[in-house]
Amino acid sequence: MITYHEQERIFKLDTPNTSYLIGIVDEENFIGHIYYGKRLKDADVSYLMRTEEAPFVPGRNNRERCAFYDCFPFEYPAGGTGDCRESCLSVRSAGGHAGAMLSYVSYEILEGKPELAGLPATFGTAGECITLKLLCEDRHVGMQVELLYTVFQDVDVVTRSVKITNTGKEHFYLTKVCSACLDMDNRDYDMISLHGSWGRERHIQRKTLGYGIQNVSSLRGESSHQDHPFLALVEKSATQENGEVYAMNFVYSGNFRAQAEVTQFDYVRMSMGIHPENFCWKLEAGESFQAPEVVMLYTDKGLDAMTNAFHKLYRKHLIRGEYRNKKRPILINNWEATYFAFDTEKLLSIAKEASGLGIEMLVMDDGWFGKRNTDECALGDWQVNEEKLKGGLKYLVDEVNKLGLKFGIWFEPEMVSPDSDLYRAHPDWALAIPGRPAAQARQQYVLDLSRKEVADYIYEMVASVLRSANIEYVKWDMNRPLTDIGSYGLPADRQGEICHRFMLAVYEMQNRLIKEFPYLLLENCSSGGARFDPGMLYYSPQIWCSDDTDAIERLEIQEGTAMLYPLSTMGAHVSDCPNHAIGRVTPFETRGLVALAGTFGYELDVTRIPEEDRKMIPEQVALYHQYNDLIREGDYYRIASYSQNHKFDCWQVVDEDKKESLVTFVQVMCRANFKSRRILLKGLSEETRYEVCFVNETKIQPKVYSGDTLMKAGLLIPEQQGDFRARLIHLTAK
Ligand code: GLA
Repeated sequence: MITYHEQERIFKLDTPNTSYLIGIVDEENFIGHIYYGKRLKDADVSYLMRTEEAPFVPGRNNRERCAFYDCFPFEYPAGGTGDCRESCLSVRSAGGHAGAMLSYVSYEILEGKPELAGLPATFGTAGECITLKLLCEDRHVGMQVELLYTVFQDVDVVTRSVKITNTGKEHFYLTKVCSACLDMDNRDYDMISLHGSWGRERHIQRKTLGYGIQNVSSLRGESSHQDHPFLALVEKSATQENGEVYAMNFVYSGNFRAQAEVTQFDYVRMSMGIHPENFCWKLEAGESFQAPEVVMLYTDKGLDAMTNAFHKLYRKHLIRGEYRNKKRPILINNWEATYFAFDTEKLLSIAKEASGLGIEMLVMDDGWFGKRNTDECALGDWQVNEEKLKGGLKYLVDEVNKLGLKFGIWFEPEMVSPDSDLYRAHPDWALAIPGRPAAQARQQYVLDLSRKEVADYIYEMVASVLRSANIEYVKWDMNRPLTDIGSYGLPADRQGEICHRFMLAVYEMQNRLIKEFPYLLLENCSSGGARFDPGMLYYSPQIWCSDDTDAIERLEIQEGTAMLYPLSTMGAHVSDCPNHAIGRVTPFETRGLVALAGTFGYELDVTRIPEEDRKMIPEQVALYHQYNDLIREGDYYRIASYSQNHKFDCWQVVDEDKKESLVTFVQVMCRANFKSRRILLKGLSEETRYEVCFVNETKIQPKVYSGDTLMKAGLLIPEQQGDFRARLIHLTAK
């Protein structure tokens, strides 16, 4: 899977269907990117680096060194010495100078994949993957750079990361460290990214890639609602089924930047890494900095192939723990049911009703601690409010357990309210720039987790609550961006490290949590889905997707999310109507079928919803039990997109053996004089005959068709009267 061709000085990395080639050139050992694309038989395609064209390599034409630097396809470009495209690495010496250039030193090929200290990353055993470590240096700076590449045997991705070590005698500062870069020819690409807002996360955006720099980024200290740590460059003609796709996804949850720069020569430099703004990391002699991982992907088979490669990688090589391949308990969360107005009695009444309907876990959301009766106070005071929870937390949990339900709880560990005992005792524990009042958001501040004593204190508070009762699930929330980035715990020349140190501390806390409570089901959340990223998936197998639980709004949110992440990770609940976020009324059945495409659960007061809705819950619970294995583990295909056609939405999952499939069809607005819709299914076996059954619809008789027919001629979905109507269609091989 990884070979070194000594004579040609070429490294060739192969995945099942792709090749990635790196070349060492000139006597100065520049590291060039040669090729990433369909799998090649030969390694010697070094002509693609164009070193036989003017301006030639410096060893042949030192007069035009700048021109060489400015067009050579660098594997990992450093800045300030002649390459005037945006670099991946900026270093400022103790003397204040910037500028670096890397040259190749040596390599190692390792079975398996080394862990990245303190960071989330994909993993695999010696038989599953292999890693190339390229060691490079800049002797002027006194710096070694390790470029790490891993290829997996069963999925077409290359993962990359970078480690920088100060090998000199003096300190220096890293002011920019990207994790991956691709210098290649621009072939008239489009750029796909995910854009959003609170309640509107991860909407797919596709636009023409033009000359100059285009990027998506977050400076919010979290991966964010607004932009997503993902970027794809795709052929203009690329569709779900066909066409070239180059994608990058960042295994990180903090500030990021993903960028594409189209140059004067029609080359494109695609890069991804920690956002350089406000980033400045001091490296003392002998110290190292480990940058987070980027997952790189190439396919010539369109967006469905990209999606399934990401899904497979994340399911098998990123998500960990007890629940990674398991059905999750169907939960009912009291947030939209009660907000802050609850007590033991109210929660038990919900649990009692829920248990009779087949729901398996009660999650107590915000408001159970300190004086938290509104969102204006008490974050940081993680002591149970016994006025609300009479008899204490253990009593409540035991009673819920007696009803046959598991119990889960909400925390927002990274935050502190100004009106809290914690803040009154430790005002210096919040992020703030000395002398400047820090900005509040949702009337709260961010804790300075870059200080170990703060992270340790909060961890202990959270863990002691979990130790006190049989709590089997935690929703870990984070409800404001990082601003006023100042720490009382760090010296002046380390203030630029805070945002990354904050992320490292969150990762460390979550790692401790899942080590101490290995059977805990952890669900990350951030004002809905502002931290839905591969970094968090390393710690929690599911993430709350959005605070917008409206079934129709969810179509676009879940389409964008599922473009990268397995359905098993998407927190999705059935909520009450009119919907609390947007006021829309949709059929209870449709809400159920849309939530079925995610982790599935309820977010409503089950004691107060209309009787006809309540009656449908056992039916929905049965559908979940029947189909969740298929939904969680199956290949996912996008059949139609409401966000593009403005009429209907449709997706499909198919099991690995192609014996079973499930299609969800949502008709958004009904129209007069409407005929059936023809949809072309995907991923089936052409030779197999399938029984097609419209689930719970007695008026439509099951019929048998071949996979060939269903994929080429399609399936007719009969008209339905009414708006927001959804259907589930189950296929089984005969
Ligand atoms: C965030 C979450 C919600 C809920 C509230 C509680 O907004 O996304 O699901 O937990 O916080 O304050």
